[in-house]
Amino acid sequence: MTESPNDPTRDGAAFAEEVRAEARRELETATTPERSSDLVELRDVRLSFGDNHVLNGITMGVGAGQTLCILGGSGVGKSTVLRLILRLLLPDSGEVLVEGRDISAVSNVDVLELRERMGMVFQGSALFDSLDVFDNVAFPLYEHTGMGDEAIMERVHEVLSFVDLDPDDVLRLLPAELSGGMRKRVAIARAIVHKPPILLFDEPTSGLDPITTRTIDELILKLRRELSVCAVVVTHDIRSAARIATETALLKDGQIIFNGTPEEMFSSEDSYVRTFLS
Ligand SMILES: Nc1ncnc2c1ncn2[C@@H]1O[C@H](COP(=O)(O)OP(=O)(O)O)[C@@H](O)[C@H]1O
Ligand SMILES: [Mg+2]
Repeated sequence: MTESPNDPTRDGAAFAEEVRAEARRELETATTPERSSDLVELRDVRLSFGDNHVLNGITMGVGAGQTLCILGGSGVGKSTVLRLILRLLLPDSGEVLVEGRDISAVSNVDVLELRERMGMVFQGSALFDSLDVFDNVAFPLYEHTGMGDEAIMERVHEVLSFVDLDPDDVLRLLPAELSGGMRKRVAIARAIVHKPPILLFDEPTSGLDPITTRTIDELILKLRRELSVCAVVVTHDIRSAARIATETALLKDGQIIFNGTPEEMFSSEDSYVRTFLS
């Protein structure tokens, strides 16, 4: 039996080295395209809820074929950033740009069109409990496209196979009949079914065991390699970030206190970064 890489008893130095090696392997094998202009960009974004100044000047950007991991403690504003990108919230000041469009300037009528450019994987998967896998995954196609039943069935098969689920096995199951990892795969299938260039993930591996976490991370990598998606992944899981990120942003007190590659993060001398990583 080989040693589990997720054994919590392993020391920090061995962990850091393992993570660096994994990041290097990832860099060697990734077919990251030329850095394009950012598909998602935040410019000096500020947002308060009453006296709670959640975001105090956030600037970040992520392009096609890139995966930005937003890290930080609980309540620091990570999910809020995703809600801003989805235009579920508007910033008090600063700009949120999606494919170069300022979301504050997008009308309520055009917001659906804006959201069609994105796929969202919610924390806890957020599947419709009373709908089977087919209906959950097909939902965005019935909502937003004029596709016929046959084309929709074909696309649902295709996308379930992409996330390594056997359509014949799962199509008619209800979410309650699936494992946590399978539910997450279905949620990812639903997020990509309409082929959005941008994917947003909120804590995609929280509540999953280390082995399932790894398979979901591999799926996120596959999305980048094979579909060149632009992904923003909120996570508190440093190990996942080390596997999947091309860029990391560490949030604290409403600001990004570190922004760089995972390798740069792991070699940072900043005391908070080091505390966070340990
Ligand atoms: N709709 C809201 N109204 C008021 N406060 C909110 C709202 N959404 C989030 N908050 C507050 O903003 C802060 C950041 O929340 P959130 O982005 O969910 O944190 P994280 O995802 O990093 O755990 C928290 O203090 C939270 O209570
Ligand atoms: Mg959150």
